[in-house]
Amino acid sequence: MSGKRNIVLMGFMGSGKTSVGKKLAERLDMTFVDMDDVIVQRRGKSISDIFDQDGEAYFRSLERNLVRELSAESGKIIATGGGIVLNPQNVSDFEAGSLVVCLSASPEAILERVKDDTNRPLLADGDKLGKIKSILDKRIKLYKAVSNQLPTDGLTVEEVVEKVIELYIKG
Ligand code: S3P
Repeated sequence: MSGKRNIVLMGFMGSGKTSVGKKLAERLDMTFVDMDDVIVQRRGKSISDIFDQDGEAYFRSLERNLVRELSAESGKIIATGGGIVLNPQNVSDFEAGSLVVCLSASPEAILERVKDDTNRPLLADGDKLGKIKSILDKRIKLYKAVSNQLPTDGLTVEEVVEKVIELYIKG
């Protein structure tokens, strides 16, 4: 691997990975990669259709393969899917050569960002806030295990970007 270290953003759905990642890529003149988008492009169907037609386990295997591929590359800002932490090997593969930052937000802030979204199968229909809380509860230890933690409540996207750049410069 040569060139600039990747920056990998992890965190729950709606924690700001994509919006922060796009701005970071502009600021640092690096290439932005959204893992969900790559999977959608390669499979030729939406995340919801992959979950419905092929199952979540299949989606996780696509994610796993993509982590192996991207962790061997450099110069990228990578927004992961919220479930990337479900396999801790994904976190350690990225942490071996990239700056990995976990963005966090309160369930209420997350709800605000995802409430009108129709392409998050795990939050489809019904009590979205309840689903957010229950999935977050199950995963919280996995998110906390990521080496860099960045709480985003009350911060603008630009402020989050600045904080990630500080971590990146610090090495
Ligand atoms: C998921 C998060 C989604 C997407 C899929 C599963 C999860 O990504 O990968 O719907 O398990 O948390 P975002 O975090 O970009 O919404």
